[in-house]
Amino acid sequence: MKISKILASIAAIGTLGLTGIAAHAQETIKVGLVAPFSGPFADYGKQMESGIKAYMKQHGDKVAGKKVEIIIKDTTGPVPEVAKRLAQELVVRDKVDFLAGFGLTPEALAVAPIAEQAKKPMIIMNAATSIITTKSNYIARVSMTLPQVSGPMATWAVKNNVKKVVTLVADYGPGIDAETAFKTNFIGGGGQVVESIRVPLRNPEFAPYIQRIKDAKPEAVFIFVPAGEQGIAFMKGYRERGLAEAGIKVIATGDLTDDHVLPAMGDAVLGVITSFHYSAAHDSPENKTFLKNFADANPGSGRPNFMAVAAYDGIHAIYEVSRKLNGKIDGDKAMAALKGMKINSPRGPITIDPATRDVVQTVYIRKVEKVNGEVYNVEFDKFADMKDTGK
Ligand code: PHB
Repeated sequence: MKISKILASIAAIGTLGLTGIAAHAQETIKVGLVAPFSGPFADYGKQMESGIKAYMKQHGDKVAGKKVEIIIKDTTGPVPEVAKRLAQELVVRDKVDFLAGFGLTPEALAVAPIAEQAKKPMIIMNAATSIITTKSNYIARVSMTLPQVSGPMATWAVKNNVKKVVTLVADYGPGIDAETAFKTNFIGGGGQVVESIRVPLRNPEFAPYIQRIKDAKPEAVFIFVPAGEQGIAFMKGYRERGLAEAGIKVIATGDLTDDHVLPAMGDAVLGVITSFHYSAAHDSPENKTFLKNFADANPGSGRPNFMAVAAYDGIHAIYEVSRKLNGKIDGDKAMAALKGMKINSPRGPITIDPATRDVVQTVYIRKVEKVNGEVYNVEFDKFADMKDTGK
């Protein structure tokens, strides 16, 4: 090449610098994974990352001829400002094609305006307050909503002769959604809610609340607490204060008996009835494949939970969109591809509702039982094709 030509190319690179970077970015499909990877909710990010690894081990790290790159960002917990700043960095500096993750509702709500402004598809892999998907047309949810899983728990309970209940929920979006949906169906079915307790999201001290439940003498207590340590703490207090002996049953959303912490809860949790969209004990070929790939991709990491499944399905959806768009990700086209998408999930078939971009799925009623010596959420009843009822 002549010197003049080389200089001309350098000049061209100079002026077209940005285009050059954009062209390079087009060789990869970048997914920003925004979730807590440290602090009390660190397991949320870990489960999501592990679910994504399971999918990518099974299907490879390329789609539509491009390499899929996952960029991990740790929100450290329900800290909206941090989630927002990280999402901004992902959009502006890393030029991601998709935003994904979101373990806690405050993270998702903080990032929604960024997805809207940047026209970036935002795939919710957990955060479960109903309202989230209304905050931007670029949001699609593959996890669940609290109204979707709490309503069926109430319907099942009143039909099965539980008539007097106390509710206890974490005092923020998903907890309030759970309480509202539960009460609507429970009271609507002829039941009575004698007390509704709301506990702080961060480090709740359960002992006084558990005493209040005991004093109210209900037939059951309905619980929503965010998955993880809080479920273990609640069940410990429930046993220690003799609520089981007092004849007070536990009914809950499956967040309480999250598959990842369930083995650590041990016998204290046997007999607890929950409603949820995923159990590691779900009997299907898709779940068997998922469990195997999860174990292979994440040796020693224990049982996957519903967040791992949502992330596995979420990256599946991203692969499908990328294939449909031949690797050229445009926000509006990506959302059009997501609307109505069907996935054969390890939990059973799911659809992204084209009207709301929220997930439609079967909600199962399960009981904690021992299966081959290990505790599992064993499904025994179901509510098919459940939409979010909270909007
Ligand atoms: C949420 O913040 O939306 C959330 C967190 C944990 C759960 C469910 C929902 O288990």
